[in-house]
Amino acid sequence: MTLQELKSIEKAFDVPLSEMKRIIRAFHSEMGKGLSDSDGSLKMIPTYVDRPTGDEKGKFIALDLGGTNFRILEMELKGGKNISKPVSRQFVLDRKYLAGDGKALFDFIAGCVEIFLKGKGIDKAAHFDLGFTFSFPVEQTGIASGRLLRWTKGFNAKGVIGKDVVRLLDEALAGKHVNNVKVAALANDTVGTMVARAYEDPDCDVGVILGTGTNACYREYISNIKKLHSGMTYAGQMIVNTEWGNFNKLRTNSYDKILDEGSGNRGSQILEKMVSGMYLGEIFRLIAKDLMKKKVLFAGTNIGVFGKRGCFKTEYMSAIESDHSAGLPDMARLFKKLGIKDTTLRDRQLCRNICRIVSGRASRISAAALAAVIMKMDRELSRKHTIAIDGSVFEKYPGFSDRMRSALKEIFGNRSSRVSMVLAKDGSGKGAAIIAAVAGSL
Ligand code: BGC
Repeated sequence: MTLQELKSIEKAFDVPLSEMKRIIRAFHSEMGKGLSDSDGSLKMIPTYVDRPTGDEKGKFIALDLGGTNFRILEMELKGGKNISKPVSRQFVLDRKYLAGDGKALFDFIAGCVEIFLKGKGIDKAAHFDLGFTFSFPVEQTGIASGRLLRWTKGFNAKGVIGKDVVRLLDEALAGKHVNNVKVAALANDTVGTMVARAYEDPDCDVGVILGTGTNACYREYISNIKKLHSGMTYAGQMIVNTEWGNFNKLRTNSYDKILDEGSGNRGSQILEKMVSGMYLGEIFRLIAKDLMKKKVLFAGTNIGVFGKRGCFKTEYMSAIESDHSAGLPDMARLFKKLGIKDTTLRDRQLCRNICRIVSGRASRISAAALAAVIMKMDRELSRKHTIAIDGSVFEKYPGFSDRMRSALKEIFGNRSSRVSMVLAKDGSGKGAAIIAAVAGSL
């Protein structure tokens, strides 16, 4: 590969400060549209819940569905910002449920709730409020109701879009005769993550997920959520789920276009397709495939793992960027396992450069989107903000969070020290239980 070719890839993925500033401006314009219900790429969904006080109490069950695993938790909120350590159980969601009949998906989930309660010896007389974390774009109509707008992250279960997912879960629970559990709250994972952190940290006003999918929520003045107003006056604040994964005012390149065209949700989730763990590996695969075709990478090797959509996982990119040894032997072993037997050191160096370029763009777009959200609340960054973040890309991708921090510093200068991004691991389920408690006190 010539330096020229690498330069042109770098250029296609570059997000300089001027581009981050443009993204922030475009974000604000889309946020405004979403809040007033006019067409735009940001849905800006009101959640009907605000930050908790930390005094909420009671025993709750939470159900956390957002990927191929889902978890059920039981925990006790003790008030005074104290939460018992949740008892949780993870269930694997068979692939057949992702694209099959929606009823089968909800029946399976309800069945798991039944197994969980039995396993814990929870007697059927004890009543539980359940917080349901459902991490997809849902147009909420109340704290415990909302219609699925569209599936993301490879889910495509039939007959769910347009339906109230709380109702579907309630019906499935009733079908299993689980009558002592009531769905008291519905929450997006970003909202759960933010609320779980805010229970103990009053500065927390943003929740972000950077994992298989990506999204953010933040606190907004109800008076700014124009679409809520029908002659009523609202005081106070409410958490808004931005659904930023669908933001589409971004500069896409030829690889992004191929990725989008081959995806099951063409034209939507454009930011998610440039940033999240479900897609980064695929972008790398498309670049590598292109370079292999041009015979500038892995010369003489057959196309192997690079020939098939979705086969190059983001975890492999993480592994590539973690290899700091001089001859990059770990990477050579990884490629061998993936069917690329002979790699030269130059091939491996190139692959590492490409990973850096792809993940570097993702971290800078994420930082610009986050800066836009923070500035929507506090343009001058006049106070502290804790950003509760969860997700494998933020947690595990080497250097990702550091690169986000440096990008925030470019945007905000020294004031960026007022923004603390904290890893809020597994907060989404916990947060849903807290929201169930808030719902009970309304
Ligand atoms: C969904 C969001 C979710 C995010 C992170 C996206 O695909 O649309 O609702 O918060 O993934 O799980």
